[in-house]
Amino acid sequence: MTVSKYLGLLLISLALLFSGCNKKADEDASINQDPRAKGFDYNFTKTNVVRVVSGDAIYNRRCINCHGPQGTRSALNRSKIIGGWDTQKIIVALRGYKHDQGGQFKGTMKNMIIDLDDEEIQAVAKTISSFK
Ligand code: HEC
Repeated sequence: MTVSKYLGLLLISLALLFSGCNKKADEDASINQDPRAKGFDYNFTKTNVVRVVSGDAIYNRRCINCHGPQGTRSALNRSKIIGGWDTQKIIVALRGYKHDQGGQFKGTMKNMIIDLDDEEIQAVAKTISSFK
């Protein structure tokens, strides 16, 4: 399971936990709402789970291998050098790949970003844009 899916599950569990602060509903649905019933065993009372989207982390985990440090490499000898590109230009390119638009290697790029949501795409675009 990837970290993001794991985090998603955690957030969903949290949402379930806090959605029914209404006591009656809590009692009715206590079995479904108890995360332990699903095999989880977290201490929700002491933990604040906050979603933190880091463009740097995404770039270093997913993009650097092909596009190089600071976006200085031509990925697979196909891509343009993207370091320092305008943020909007990168966002447009990434959204395009999501919808099967791009060059010969658009399929490769689609796989790289298909599960990134808009917030994550904006964050990684900002990071690449900051490479100047
Ligand atoms: C497996 C290697 C690989 C990885 C990993 C990869 N890319 Fe790419 N990227 C490519 C290739 C190849 C292209 C050219 C695709 C095409 O033909 O349109 C490309 C193109 C791009 C472009 C458009 C540049 C152009 O040439 O038009 C952007 C922006 C981009 N990638 C961003 C990213 C981001 C952000 C990540 C990480 C989330 C990433 N890439 C991960 C290989 C990769």
